[in-house]
Amino acid sequence: MSLSFRRLGEQDLTQILEWEHFCFPSEEWTEKMIQTHLEFHVAFGIGNPETQCYALVCETPWEIEIFRIATLPKFRKQGFAKQMLENLFLEFPKKEFFLEVKESNEAAIKLYLSAGFLELERRKKYYPDGSTAVLMKRNPIE
Ligand SMILES: CC(C)(COP(=O)(O)OP(=O)(O)OC[C@H]1O[C@@H](n2cnc3c(N)ncnc32)[C@H](O)[C@@H]1OP(=O)(O)O)[C@@H](O)C(=O)NCCC(=O)NCCS
Repeated sequence: MSLSFRRLGEQDLTQILEWEHFCFPSEEWTEKMIQTHLEFHVAFGIGNPETQCYALVCETPWEIEIFRIATLPKFRKQGFAKQMLENLFLEFPKKEFFLEVKESNEAAIKLYLSAGFLELERRKKYYPDGSTAVLMKRNPIE
């Protein structure tokens, strides 16, 4: 199955809000946060035919930070998030990738490890709910 990978823009704001609601219940970003993200950073969707997984990403001249990656619940465990990461690595082949993830989010940590991220450090009480963050990094392929 060939998946379409595309850059999301302001026209996708309402859709992203809806995805946030399904993917991050009680932790979804607000409309203002997503709007600001789309203004200053980048977002991507992947799927066939409709978007099944999306990512909110910050690009600097040196690195990429993944703020959010999520697969819509009914499409999980079918390889969409892994495909999203592989497409991001192709989109930004020379950049280091960073992210932080809740220590309790085993699915995401396994996903990142399987995509070549390594743990850098843990930060206790990092999130508003008091949970620990795992900081992870992936180096570009030489
Ligand atoms: C984490 C998340 C993005 C994974 O998306 P996905 O499309 O289901 O992931 P994939 O099917 O591409 O899985 C790739 C690998 O991740 C790991 N993985 C994914 N879901 C898993 C789960 N529920 N339990 C354990 N490992 C899991 C596996 O190693 C898997 O490889 P495998 O299938 O060969 O074993 C998805 O569960 C999600 O959207 N969660 C809610 C949002 C979130 O927490 N995002 C991350 C923090 S921003």
